[in-house]
Amino acid sequence: MNLIVKESYDELSRYVAGEIAALLRGNPQAVLCLPTGNTPVGTYQELVRLHKEGRVSFAQCTVFNLDEYYPIDPSDPNSYRSFMRKNLFDHVDIRPGSANIPNGEAKDADEECRLYEQKIRNSGGIDLALLGIGRNGHIGFNEPDRELLLETHVVTLTESTLQANCEPFGSIEAMPKQALTMGLGTIMSAKRIIVIASGASKKFAVEKMLSSRITTDVPATLLQLHPDVTLVIDKAVGVSSEGTRWTR
Ligand code: F6R
Repeated sequence: MNLIVKESYDELSRYVAGEIAALLRGNPQAVLCLPTGNTPVGTYQELVRLHKEGRVSFAQCTVFNLDEYYPIDPSDPNSYRSFMRKNLFDHVDIRPGSANIPNGEAKDADEECRLYEQKIRNSGGIDLALLGIGRNGHIGFNEPDRELLLETHVVTLTESTLQANCEPFGSIEAMPKQALTMGLGTIMSAKRIIVIASGASKKFAVEKMLSSRITTDVPATLLQLHPDVTLVIDKAVGVSSEGTRWTR
């Protein structure tokens, strides 16, 4: 695992967008896994800028998003489908059929997960997974637990996730109580992984990721088993690369 510490959130975003753009220039048909959340917003803004300058095209690539609430109408402003359209898909040249997000209004959630997993496999597998990280070290909606599931699956959101994510819905009562998420196995099957973290609230999770210990209590620690992970953080996280064996 490599650790890269950037001066600021903007620098982090520029760096990560540059990595994605370079990948797409070298392999226009690359398969990407992308997250929602606050952290990737700057990266998406930078990718949109690069696209408008003609420096990156998404026309031939395929995207699989990490997760989606369930149940939710994809056109609901709080769906992850809407988030991706607003922040990336509507501003670049990705083909609508290549921008995949689990269907939040599928009648049979388990079947939707099975089909999503199948579709990822049929695409040839993920070339690059970009991941955010929860304060508690969750990845996607894979929350700390005694056991974690490998493949795309339905999760019942924990009280703390409901609390953390309820604001845009107005109340916990008004928000979906479940989600569909890639599993850690699906994520770990990506050829390359970039994890981004910004701000002091991520210090615990980042330190655990660098700890040389793995535990399902902090799902992100499992990423240490992957052969090609780069953790890109900003200085505000409060973790220095000195003294770790991860420095680059
Ligand atoms: C979102 C996702 C989550 C977020 C994580 C960090 O698709 O999978 O695991 O990456 O909760 O969210 P932010 O970036 O808002 O701190």
